[in-house]
Amino acid sequence: MDKDLKIKFDFNYMMEDFIGEKGIKHQQINEILHKIVKAQENMEIKRKDGKMDFRELPYNQDEVVEEINKFVEDTKGKIENFVVLGIGGSALGPIAVQQAVNHLYYNELTKEKRNGCPKLYVLDNVDPERIVALLDIIDIEKTMFNVVSKSGGTPETMSQFMIIEKMLLDKVGQEKAKELMVFTTDKEKGNLIKISKQKGYKMFIIPEGVGGRFSQLTPVGLLPAAMCGIDIKEMLKGAATMDEMCKAHDIFENPAYMYAILHYIAMTNGANISVMMPYADSLKYMSDWYAQLWAESTGKKYDTEGEVVNRGQTPAKALGVTDQHSQLQLYTEGPFDKIVVLMGVGEYKKTLDIPKVHEDIDSIAFLGGHTQNELISLEQMATEYALLKSGRMNMTITLPKVCEHTVGQLLYLLEVATVFMCELLEVDSFNQPGVEEGKNAMYAMFGKPGYEEKKNELMARPEKMEKYMI
Ligand code: PA5
Repeated sequence: MDKDLKIKFDFNYMMEDFIGEKGIKHQQINEILHKIVKAQENMEIKRKDGKMDFRELPYNQDEVVEEINKFVEDTKGKIENFVVLGIGGSALGPIAVQQAVNHLYYNELTKEKRNGCPKLYVLDNVDPERIVALLDIIDIEKTMFNVVSKSGGTPETMSQFMIIEKMLLDKVGQEKAKELMVFTTDKEKGNLIKISKQKGYKMFIIPEGVGGRFSQLTPVGLLPAAMCGIDIKEMLKGAATMDEMCKAHDIFENPAYMYAILHYIAMTNGANISVMMPYADSLKYMSDWYAQLWAESTGKKYDTEGEVVNRGQTPAKALGVTDQHSQLQLYTEGPFDKIVVLMGVGEYKKTLDIPKVHEDIDSIAFLGGHTQNELISLEQMATEYALLKSGRMNMTITLPKVCEHTVGQLLYLLEVATVFMCELLEVDSFNQPGVEEGKNAMYAMFGKPGYEEKKNELMARPEKMEKYMI
């Protein structure tokens, strides 16, 4: 492993030794050792039994990587845009990785500066304004649409697909549409597989045991990344590097386990909110990806024994230094209900000098001669200190630099940490029954066959009262 690229995890300021009475006591870790050991055993057994397929992704995708890279090569120069149609786990990862690794204004670069790669757009919603706005700026004849859905049935994604396919067929006909449509879906389940067989659309497969929010290292994330010139092999190598670290039995050597253990103890101490605050615009959307992962995995009504527990920890998103000027006040002086996960970068992709100007104005002259890099790093340190001083638990993940390798490590670290947290909470990491009720209500109102009873139930709900409306 390239030591210079190893992510560092520093949890000093989670501990009572530094934070004082609101911090975690070493003893608290010992007190839950039996739970930790059990969670570790479960992780190992589940992996051995093939119930944790996302953990094998760094190793078992050589073929698909070749296929993706060849597909990208064959497509090069033929399209201007690559549009992902997907939602949730099928959309957040591609956005996060693109922002992390590529130029922050990638789509605004010239084609030459993008090395001939297409612009990337991800439609993570069904807001008509967004879709129409995208159609205003792209030429669909020069755009490839990647329909991404593990279940192949998600109505948001399917509606996006239906709109786009019809437009394509009307404009370019079936033969050309075939060249502009690519599916990423499950090998057997859902509508996309059927449609792909009928119409001959190219298809990439999401491995069976890997669910949406754990699928960034499958073609869900690998295809859009490779399309935009990102080295996906390196990303998977990064994940493999982290996998080695996440195998450590000693929890003081295992960043994912320790991350989860500290979150778990903090939660039992009343810190039910975990704020992710990267000090880098490149990592801004990692917080979105992670918020889904943490929320949808930990938030459960039932535990694994079927008891009602209503557990979970709320993720929140912030950006350094921007949110020092909006949310930090709450974090340092508000209730003791949060942990802050700071995310720093050793070496930013660019260095920017602050010129020595206005030397006659002391209150700004002190900035001159330094760099924006120093400024952002020192501001991160200052926030860490402010949190420390106010007795607020915080931890720091540092990426030596933001590149494919470290991003692969980071994704994998947070995925393993999430599953370990769920083991400690004794809830199922991989299901999301809570989102079904809303989905079913929508199906019923839209007249999906089989949802007639649900529609009756919905129609019978109590009327809203005028007195509670203004
Ligand atoms: O993590 C999950 O499973 C969800 O967020 C899904 O990714 C999301 O609902 C989209 O599902 P699908 O990929 O089946 O269209």
